[in-house]
Amino acid sequence: MSEKSYDVIIIGAGPGGYVCAIRCAQLGLKTAVVEKRAALGGTCLNVGCIPSKALLSASEKYEAAEHHFADMGIKVSGVKLDLAGMMGHKTKVVADNTKGIEFLFKKNKIDWLKGEGMLGGNGTVKVGTDTYNAKHIVIATGSDVTPLPGITIDEKKIVSSTGALELEKVPEHLVVIGAGVIGLELGTVWRRLGAKVTVIEYLDRIMPGMDLEVAKNAQRIFEKQGIAFRLATKVTSAKAEKNGVALTLEPAAGGTAETMAGDVVLVAVGRKPHTATLGLDKVGVAMDKRGRIEVDHHFQTNVQGVYAIGDVIAGPMLAHKAEDEGVVLAEMLAGQSGHIDYDLIPGVVYTWPEIANVGKTEEQLKEAGVAYKVGKFPFMANGRARAMAATDGFVKILADAATDKVLGCHIIGPEAGTLIAEVVLAMEFGASSEDIARTCHAHPTLNEVVKEAALAVDGRPLHI
Ligand code: NAI
Repeated sequence: MSEKSYDVIIIGAGPGGYVCAIRCAQLGLKTAVVEKRAALGGTCLNVGCIPSKALLSASEKYEAAEHHFADMGIKVSGVKLDLAGMMGHKTKVVADNTKGIEFLFKKNKIDWLKGEGMLGGNGTVKVGTDTYNAKHIVIATGSDVTPLPGITIDEKKIVSSTGALELEKVPEHLVVIGAGVIGLELGTVWRRLGAKVTVIEYLDRIMPGMDLEVAKNAQRIFEKQGIAFRLATKVTSAKAEKNGVALTLEPAAGGTAETMAGDVVLVAVGRKPHTATLGLDKVGVAMDKRGRIEVDHHFQTNVQGVYAIGDVIAGPMLAHKAEDEGVVLAEMLAGQSGHIDYDLIPGVVYTWPEIANVGKTEEQLKEAGVAYKVGKFPFMANGRARAMAATDGFVKILADAATDKVLGCHIIGPEAGTLIAEVVLAMEFGASSEDIARTCHAHPTLNEVVKEAALAVDGRPLHI
């Protein structure tokens, strides 16, 4: 039994929590983080963003060696998949990253309180039999997989993203439920490694919330790559059997049911805030109807001294959103001020081509009655993209019809996730499309497609 006092105790060492801790420590606050996992970094580093990117990078190279090197005059033969070796690469990447956070904790003198944290009331946090006091308590416990009623995830045959990162052999037929970010990224990994992949989506489109034109374009490209989509379809049951999984599907609008068989089923229908074990009800922390913790503009809950950031509060469930909240909150706790523009949080899907977006979609602008101009430019007309044999996709910039201020940008194409950063920065500074168009862009680069799209807003692209 120990009792110790801190300025700040953060529960959860994911990107929100650990970044908040580092910033608190930098600002001279005595800081501890409670984490029950054996490694720091949360879902993102252990079973999310980082391992999935390790498998996406490795599988992309495998597919390129098998199918695309020859297009560039590189003859290879006998390309073989060593799945255990690929998983080993993933495990090492995760370990290097999580150990990196441990190093940063030591460097910044942040205490790691190992175990499951609970609010104890009156500025205390309980970890096992120990109780700690803190002036400020930050909940950064992230999110969990949303289950589908009647479908039991066993992480072997019916898997969440966690199990889909650990499969011991390539399934013959992977059925993915949900055409969102996880379904498309992990579906892509296993398709590249040789699985037949069918994605079943409840809505009549993939990637809800993304610009519709981009989503339709992406679907066409993924279909060309070999992924099959069943849209407007719901899965009413999935049962693990001896040789695989038996699924029942129905049209979303109702109608005749049909069956489908798969070796492995990935359930990727969203995530929900992880709050159940925190003792929030005992302390009286208010939640909204969707199970998220309610906070004000200072991330303060209705309970004095208790704050929340990241996936447990409203907003996109993205690591970089949580990180930014962690930094701003730390600065506020140290007496400074901060602000996040939630309109300017980029989203990236790490498929090939990548898909990235920031700001408003055309659908949102139409719904809000905002008059806008569109500038679009294809990668096909860019010299660097041709040199890379990566000509699928386009950049679309949406600008206010009256002021030319950039309101949104949607990219599908090579390195979209990197390219979007330029537009996010421009939007942070309130740039017009003319500002981007007048900025000198190095040649030959993919960024020139962004510049050309900005020129296209005013009807004057140069290379088309
Ligand atoms: P998601 O919200 O992106 O997509 C879920 C999809 O499942 C939606 O298209 C939805 O319409 C569909 N769906 C829901 N119920 C269904 C049902 N019963 N049958 C068929 N389809 C159904 O959620 P996802 O992909 O699980 O990702 C979870 C979270 O993790 C997201 O917030 C995402 O932003 C985040 N994430 C972000 C990544 C990135 O930034 N690259 C990578 C992976 C996850």
